[in-house]
Amino acid sequence: MEKCAVTGGAGFIGSHLVERLLRMGCEVTVVDNLFMGSMENIAHHMKNKKFRFERVSILGGKFCGIFNGTDRGPSLTNSLASL
Ligand SMILES: NC(=O)c1ccc[n+]([C@@H]2O[C@H](COP(=O)([O-])OP(=O)(O)OC[C@H]3O[C@@H](n4cnc5c(N)ncnc54)[C@H](O)[C@@H]3O)[C@@H](O)[C@H]2O)c1
Repeated sequence: MEKCAVTGGAGFIGSHLVERLLRMGCEVTVVDNLFMGSMENIAHHMKNKKFRFERVSILGGKFCGIFNGTDRGPSLTNSLASL
């Protein structure tokens, strides 16, 4: 099973990509600081065990550590975080 990270996954394009990846059976971690995106775009995934949301900026030091100590390190990263 592919492990994917989508930065900006709460945004317009990112949330559609997340939808598709989950439907394909991937594990998906969304990294988004919600600066522009919305929880409304991803809230329906919160009970899905294959979905994880990290409210973190990709610009800060926290971003580097979010996969430490987990088995969710992505093999595929899609970067759609933008202003
Ligand atoms: N929407 C379009 O029609 C379109 C067309 C061509 C290209 N693009 C490009 O695709 C990308 C995504 O577009 P979109 O329409 O989904 O934008 P969007 O604003 O809906 O999504 C961007 C997401 O990035 C998040 N974000 C911003 N800064 C962040 C940070 N520092 N850390 C973590 N998350 C952060 C925002 O909160 C938001 O959820 C952009 O680069 C845009 O220029 C969009």
